[in-house]
Amino acid sequence: MKLWGGRFTKPTNQLVDEYTASISFDQIMWRQDIVGSLAHVAMLGKCSILPMDEVKQIIAGLKKVKEKIENGQVQFSTAHEDVHMNIEKLLIDEIGPVGGKLHTGRSRNDQVALDMHLYLREKLMEIIQLTVYLQKALLEQAQLHLDTVMPGYTHLQRAQPVLLGYHLMAYVSMLQRDIERMQESWKRVNILPLGAGALAGTTFPIDREFVADLLQFDGIYVNSMDAVSDRDFIVEFLANASLLMAHLSRLCEELVIWSSQEFSFIELDDAFCTGSSIMPQKKNPDVAELVRGKTGRVYGNLIGLLTVLKGLPLAYNKDLQEDKEGMFDTVTTLHGALGLLTPMIQTMQVKRERMRQAVTNDFSNATDLADYLVRKDIPFRQAHEIVGRAVLYCIEHKKYLLDLTLEEFRSFSDKIEEDVYTALAVETVVNARSAQGGTACSQVAKQIETGKTWTEET
Ligand code: ARG
Repeated sequence: MKLWGGRFTKPTNQLVDEYTASISFDQIMWRQDIVGSLAHVAMLGKCSILPMDEVKQIIAGLKKVKEKIENGQVQFSTAHEDVHMNIEKLLIDEIGPVGGKLHTGRSRNDQVALDMHLYLREKLMEIIQLTVYLQKALLEQAQLHLDTVMPGYTHLQRAQPVLLGYHLMAYVSMLQRDIERMQESWKRVNILPLGAGALAGTTFPIDREFVADLLQFDGIYVNSMDAVSDRDFIVEFLANASLLMAHLSRLCEELVIWSSQEFSFIELDDAFCTGSSIMPQKKNPDVAELVRGKTGRVYGNLIGLLTVLKGLPLAYNKDLQEDKEGMFDTVTTLHGALGLLTPMIQTMQVKRERMRQAVTNDFSNATDLADYLVRKDIPFRQAHEIVGRAVLYCIEHKKYLLDLTLEEFRSFSDKIEEDVYTALAVETVVNARSAQGGTACSQVAKQIETGKTWTEET
């Protein structure tokens, strides 16, 4: 017998049961469902909507159900559709018809919204924490590489030399904004929808503030129709998760490139790579690739939910049940990615010499030759032209700028003097970028200090 069976003349078609049920995936929220019910029934007692002895029976029953679920003694069933009705059914089996009083002044519509808020609130905290751990791993590597020079790229062409510490700190900043976005969303996640009823509020003299306090919510949905209709707090999470994954996938792409034989900038630890079933020599950066790949499903989950919401009339529609799998999947995907990237970054080996070699055998000090000429009062545009010609000359003569003799240099501009060699040396070039936010060692050290205040605050 269905909990809502009274109005029906025959059982539901079994395919309908299977099609409409969400228990296979929403059982993940069973704890939140019980916590919410405990607060609700406590409020029913406090407001004298239910007598205290019944409230006590229901509380004892819910605790018993919780115990049984924890001990693996219960089997959820699609016949009871979702986690809410499964638990209510278990409660009634446990304590008899009085269990049926739990749902007084409540609808599954506000109940499910409550569960989602409770669940996401918990997961937000975990994801923020995991992101901080990744930031810390990047910070530690950055600190070790305050003197490791490498090419900085634009268009994936060598552009200007940077410190590896600088490059890694770029990610720490990105992750900081991801964390801040998650934190800012808190005030929209941590509000109470319970008490909204099905859509119009309830006829019972409930006390929503009391429930909000018990469950430590900072506020209550002002309008009950809104409370049961919207899932914008989940969309926001999925959007923030998408940006976080975008950042992680860029980091992963670099790990893949850097660990290729062509670059050979880093070596990922064996424990975080996999082999090939046919090519014995292979060591593949599968984890980094998979994080990059899984970014697609996180974006998909965002677009999926936005599309579910589009054009949906108020208030609750069963379409909203589609809010769950994408959210759960995103949480799992973030857990996996962040949990693995942290030790991968911690254990990666950096091939300093190889990076240095890359940065000395190229023209990434060309801007510095132009800047040198500017300091000798040549307009930048003209200096750019001069250096362009010098680079072309070098390419034709198979040389780099630092291989040129002073005579050769002076054939491009007589403003060039002996001091050009120090001006173009890689350490000079890097440390000359000492304006705020630049790659000079002194600036990167400051960025690391700022990064530490971020990770210590959260
Ligand atoms: N399983 C449903 C969901 O996830 C719970 C709410 C059902 N409400 C309803 N009126 N059918 O959305």
